[in-house]
Amino acid sequence: MEKYYKNHLAHIHDKYFGDLSKNAALDLITNIWTNQTGRNVIDIGCGSGILASILVANDFSVTGVDISNDILEIARKRAPSAKFIHASLHNFEFSPCDIVTAIGEPINYLFDHKSNYESCFIFFNKVYNNLEGNGLFVFDFLTTKIGLNDSSKIIEKEDMTMFLSVAIDKDNSILKRTMIYFIKDGNFYVRDTETHKQYLFDEKVIVDQLLSIGFEVKKIDGYNGHQFRDGHIGLICNKVK
Ligand SMILES: C[S@@+](CC[C@H](N)C(=O)[O-])C[C@H]1O[C@@H](n2cnc3c(N)ncnc32)[C@H](O)[C@@H]1O
Repeated sequence: MEKYYKNHLAHIHDKYFGDLSKNAALDLITNIWTNQTGRNVIDIGCGSGILASILVANDFSVTGVDISNDILEIARKRAPSAKFIHASLHNFEFSPCDIVTAIGEPINYLFDHKSNYESCFIFFNKVYNNLEGNGLFVFDFLTTKIGLNDSSKIIEKEDMTMFLSVAIDKDNSILKRTMIYFIKDGNFYVRDTETHKQYLFDEKVIVDQLLSIGFEVKKIDGYNGHQFRDGHIGLICNKVK
């Protein structure tokens, strides 16, 4: 299988794109979404462990799951008291927990070619069946309303420059994000590139799936005041006993 979020991109994500998970963690520790008092969390698509590190510092116990080994290496250093598992969310064997998170659109990625309505329905069922009591499931994802306002741009930081271009296929179902980047590595700049594909979901179909499984669902437009862009939404799903 092709590798994604390889070493350099994993570090770029960790250093410059961690705001979502940081803000989601801040919302979780203030307990704004639920009366769930359990502190056993499974973080799907955990990336470099930003959410895990904040939660373990606040007495949560966290298991992070990610398909990229390189990004998990950063997570293990950042949050040594959390547990991290290398797996796809579509194959991961859940164990009982109080809260499941999937922050930063992991359900959209086509890294293992399985992201579609059917695989999501299976995944949501596994989440529901493993949540204890009034368990909480928080996730965000890209919808078919994402649009293409920013089809290409240059992101410049002190030690890296990224050329980012985004295209959506004519069926409005797959987004392709091509990243070409130059990053400082010692005295030199290294050039690398990754292309990520994401399946775009219809919001109503996803919400209907969750309701049919038995979740109560509330839509949010950001974490801790950090707003998603248009077409990117978050769902707070409470398990109803
Ligand atoms: C945009 S990053 C978000 C990372 C982290 N949650 C954060 O917000 O900082 C998306 C993450 O989802 C992971 N991912 C994508 N597809 C996945 C899959 N099928 N199973 C598990 N993780 C996946 C990627 O490797 C990446 O770490």
